[in-house]
Amino acid sequence: MQIRISDDAAALACGADAVADAFVKAGQVPERVSSWGMHWLEPLVEVGGIGYGPVTPDRVPDILAGSADDLRIGAVAEHAFIKGQQRLTFARFGKTRPLSLEDYAATGGWKGLERARTLGPDDTIAEVLASGLRGRGGAGFPAGIKWRTVAYAKAPRKFIVCNADEGDSGTFADRMVMEGDPFMLIEGMAIAGLAVGAGKAYVYIRSEYPHAIAKMEAAAALAAPIIAPFEVEVRTGAGAYVCGEETSLLNSLEGKRGEVRAKPPLPAHEGLFGCPTVINNVLTLAAVPFVLAEGAKAYADYGMGRSRGTMPVQLAGNIKHGGLYETAFGITLGALVNDIGGGTASGRPVRAVQVGGPLGAYIPVSQFDLPFDYEAFAAADGLIGHGGIVVFDDSVDMARQARFAMQFCAVESCGKCTPCRIGAVRGVETIDRLMAGGRARGAIENLPQIHNANRKARSAADEVALLRDLCETMKFGSLCALGGFTPYPVLSALNHFPEDFVVESAS
Ligand code: NAI
Ligand code: SF4
Repeated sequence: MQIRISDDAAALACGADAVADAFVKAGQVPERVSSWGMHWLEPLVEVGGIGYGPVTPDRVPDILAGSADDLRIGAVAEHAFIKGQQRLTFARFGKTRPLSLEDYAATGGWKGLERARTLGPDDTIAEVLASGLRGRGGAGFPAGIKWRTVAYAKAPRKFIVCNADEGDSGTFADRMVMEGDPFMLIEGMAIAGLAVGAGKAYVYIRSEYPHAIAKMEAAAALAAPIIAPFEVEVRTGAGAYVCGEETSLLNSLEGKRGEVRAKPPLPAHEGLFGCPTVINNVLTLAAVPFVLAEGAKAYADYGMGRSRGTMPVQLAGNIKHGGLYETAFGITLGALVNDIGGGTASGRPVRAVQVGGPLGAYIPVSQFDLPFDYEAFAAADGLIGHGGIVVFDDSVDMARQARFAMQFCAVESCGKCTPCRIGAVRGVETIDRLMAGGRARGAIENLPQIHNANRKARSAADEVALLRDLCETMKFGSLCALGGFTPYPVLSALNHFPEDFVVESAS
């Protein structure tokens, strides 16, 4: 009897190891595989293809005795959450052992690299360009153009850097790739290296991902003979959000303080150690083996407009069915949250979703017909970012969420430019004054004296005007996306949920 249990960190956090131990005690050794990404069912146990979840160790005898119908979800591959997806990047998830070279090769692994070796650099880049693949870290810059820039640069050394500093709230797709299908990422980096003439890749992984770090280190050692002479080295970050920004990541890799560098020069011209460098997010590089193995058209056939291919959407927050949902661009936000995610976990009405991490806009239910597409989100003053969707029910206080955005920016700012370093602090103070003005929802306790000193001097309307002015300054005056994008959550909260900022009395 084939029993499968994931060893992904989300499954482990839900108790997968204890469940696996219970099977071993019962005389059945489970195979440890990657996660299907149905997080609400973890620990998910698959027995002969039939799923049970969430499983606790005491229910293992029931599963083995065939008396756990209450946990039975039927054939996992046929589950509506899985069946509705277009899994190109996550095709192996739930099915293979992450560190098995045998499983990887048996499921089409290394085919993309073989084809790239046959095609050569120029045609490999042409293939990536034709696929329409755009940077999945958030900015959506065409991967092929970035690669071509590095390929054309004249330099004795070039590098590939994989940005695995996945810092956005509600995101976990990079982690899942590194823990569940690390060879796919390594293959993507090797293809990138071949295309641009780089001999080495660094994977910069946030320190909060110990399982991903361990898997990537083990996978890099196992894959070394296959990708040689290309090399992959894993480096660990130290937990700064701003090190997900490409130039501070480079500084951190070089052993310097994680501070943002001014652009130009672009990393594609002068990146790691001053050499031309391709910096791509995990999901971008992980999409490349499919593009090369199946051809650009097979990838570009999915999607809408200029957003080609698929996006691994991450459903998180107050949502009933949270997890990884890979789908072609174009699906609406409402379909993702309500039809696939099943609405809120609390059972209360959805009030807002934040898309694109802590710097993403809060989107109200009235805009749920918005298609998941870079341009459509930009036109609605939002961003799809890294594909994280965090759901909030009607108990959320949007003024507090706006305050959190400013506070997050103040804490995580690298301090290099004034609009962000000072602006975020003034933003927190301004929202505090607004919130302290006798508003309907919630109350802020322990306001520092300095806030109260100015409280009577300005009306609520003045405070709101000041906040908007500050947001404009941060948006257009900040050096990087941290300061520049913080206004998105603040202004979207203010614009879509003004009632949460209503001040009843300014005295
Ligand atoms: P950007 O628009 O400045 O650049 C995008 C990428 O294209 C960069 O790698 C840049 O070097 C490259 N590039 C631009 N012009 C180029 C050219 N002519 N030739 C070659 N390469 C070129 O955006 P940035 O600041 O790199 O990223 C901002 C995004 O990061 C935001 O949209 C946000 O969603 C996202 N983000 C993602 C996080 C995560 O956890 N994944 C965390 C925070 C922000
Ligand atoms: Fe640093 Fe903030 Fe300026 Fe970015 S916007 S360079 S994080 S101070």
